[in-house]
Amino acid sequence: MSTEKKDNSAILIRNLVKKFEDITAVDELNLEIKQGELFGLLGPNGAGKTTTINILSGLLEPTKGTGLVRGFDVTKDQQKIKSLIGLCPQKAAVFNFLTGRENIELFGNLHSIAKKDLEERIEILLEKLELVEASKRQAKGYSGGMLRKLNLIIALINDPQIAFLDEPTVGLDPRARRATWEFIRSLKKKDKTIILTTHYIEEAEALSDRVGIIDYGKLIALGTPKELMRKYKTKNLEEVFLKITGRRILEGI
Ligand SMILES: Nc1ncnc2c1ncn2[C@@H]1O[C@H](COP(=O)(O)OP(=O)(O)OP(=O)(O)O)[C@@H](O)[C@H]1O
Ligand SMILES: [Mg+2]
Repeated sequence: MSTEKKDNSAILIRNLVKKFEDITAVDELNLEIKQGELFGLLGPNGAGKTTTINILSGLLEPTKGTGLVRGFDVTKDQQKIKSLIGLCPQKAAVFNFLTGRENIELFGNLHSIAKKDLEERIEILLEKLELVEASKRQAKGYSGGMLRKLNLIIALINDPQIAFLDEPTVGLDPRARRATWEFIRSLKKKDKTIILTTHYIEEAEALSDRVGIIDYGKLIALGTPKELMRKYKTKNLEEVFLKITGRRILEGI
């Protein structure tokens, strides 16, 4: 029974703690995310979402506790985990003097993807995210939305089993945001596990199989959007959020 459960989990977090000097960003966090699940990680500014994602992607060391990605330990099996995941970071990270396309090729080569596969994937992703024309230009002149899209493509270039998307739709216009939602949905159809953080509550409500709300580094609610609305007797997820955190999700942004 316990082995079955472990096999089925994409992410397993047990008593995870991350301290930055006097700040406890992640505070005894426990969470399991199943394979193939689209999980919405919600919480107010400073709740610990990015810190959690950065620990799971190996960018930060935990202070205490365990993080497993497909059973691999974040503190020990970095190489293995890197081949399984893709990260679209909250802060865009690209090389300004390369074109969009060159940036994608560079990251693709770091993953040792065969040239033909890489070119095919690049064409598909540029097309889907409507970045074909812009990809010929240097990234230094990109608008905020173009940078987000480029980061999303880079995150997915290795066709990862598990994708961490940290606010992938910030700064996108409504049409591009909808296109990105469709794209995220298409990943789910390919049985990918997606961990999505967002402050757009309707996005979380529409896309997520389950959502987890964290505040002050602790998980304070977990369930499908419908379950949470029922439990807290509200009409939408925004009200659930307000009820349990005392804040609006977009407050302070
Ligand atoms: N490198 C760091 N040094 C010091 N404090 C940090 C560092 N990174 C994060 N923190 C602090 O940890 C807490 C959690 O930050 P985190 O970025 O994880 O929040 P978040 O939930 O992603 O917020 P947001 O919605 O604003 O992106 C905050 O108080 C933040 O200031
Ligand atoms: Mg964040």
